[in-house]
Amino acid sequence: MLRGKSIILGITGGIAAYKGAALCSKLTQAGASVKVIMTESATKFITPLTLQTLSRNPVYTDTFDERDPSVVSHIDLADHADLIVIAPATANAIAKLAGGHADDMLSTTLIAATCPILIAPAMNVHMYEHPAVVSNLELLASRGVMFVEPGTGQLACGYVAKGRLAEPEEIAAAVEAWFARSGRLRGKRVLVTAGGTMERLDPVRYLTNDSSGKMGFAIAEAALLMGAEVTLVAGRTAVSPPPGVQLVRVESAQQMLEAVTGFYDEMDIVIKSAAVADYRAVNISGQKLKKNGERLVLELERTTDILETLGKRKKNQFLVGFAAETEQIGHYAMDKLRRKHCDLIVANDVSLAGAGFNGDTNIVQVFGEEGLVETMPLLSKREVASRLLDIIAERAALPGGSEK
Ligand code: CTP
Repeated sequence: MLRGKSIILGITGGIAAYKGAALCSKLTQAGASVKVIMTESATKFITPLTLQTLSRNPVYTDTFDERDPSVVSHIDLADHADLIVIAPATANAIAKLAGGHADDMLSTTLIAATCPILIAPAMNVHMYEHPAVVSNLELLASRGVMFVEPGTGQLACGYVAKGRLAEPEEIAAAVEAWFARSGRLRGKRVLVTAGGTMERLDPVRYLTNDSSGKMGFAIAEAALLMGAEVTLVAGRTAVSPPPGVQLVRVESAQQMLEAVTGFYDEMDIVIKSAAVADYRAVNISGQKLKKNGERLVLELERTTDILETLGKRKKNQFLVGFAAETEQIGHYAMDKLRRKHCDLIVANDVSLAGAGFNGDTNIVQVFGEEGLVETMPLLSKREVASRLLDIIAERAALPGGSEK
């Protein structure tokens, strides 16, 4: 998969540095030429000899340790890399890159590099959520730096929370996916909707659903990794959106409709993974509703079906809808595809364990005009997103692919 690819692997000083060794091994085994740069702190956790042995290349730790007089090491390394991966990336390494510091071999090489950079952060959850770290990550994302987000689990500091370095397999998969997919959606504008809408009843109460936004966020992240320009219209979500997207927050179905239709004309691909309310309160009380009597009857009215509206107005956009079903998946999916003029419908049986709302996994079937296109097994939402984007990229690239 990675034969002929030159990768710089930057390892910085966190306890997860040991996972950098496993990552190095995986990238080398996949055929990449891996040159490792370690910060001084990283060498306190793992030795350069380990990385030299795994990469079969000299390891760089000191900017001034110039071994080949014919080149300047950090410039030479930077010039020949197809991709730089920093795993683990500490809060300090992230801050240095965001601030443009160049005071050691890794930071100097990063400043000299013009190739894409993929960062896998790892740190304590409070550090990860610190406003300085958040703003550094956002800044880097706005410059096109890509991320493999940390996982949630037991952290070395004892917390069970987000901050654990993504597993080496995941990072290696992201690297392979980047090489395989990078550029497939370059120049394409992709609009993704995610999360659930909130339909207000009064100033403190609302109707909503179990959607976490994870599926839509995974799609937005996958589209970014394929080079797309991504606009993400998100309702109520349980997780943070991926950095690097144009994010628009909305509450109600009506606000989502207005945001989405506002962007629609300039979009190439629209993926509607949000769980939009079908009904909203006829009257939204300006004051907190007081309890009164044993029963309360709420009067609800239909919201506008956003997907259907987009289907009717479709010009060149490639339109993808979602369908959450509990029976006759194929029948209902095909009905929605035709009724709402979609190019694809991603259907899931939300009665199955591991599928649908809130979890980290999904089980989907993708339908096109011709019927069933692909049945995916139980997969992480990230993997579902990548595979779905592959199908979309292939179909949208066909002559007239987005003009159906
Ligand atoms: N959707 C939408 N606007 C709505 C309701 C749904 O855009 N007001 C979109 C969702 O984003 C999703 C698709 O329609 O992409 C399917 O949603 P679902 O609620 O399953 O479909 P419905 O058409 O409401 O079908 P039904 O209630 O008959 O299952």
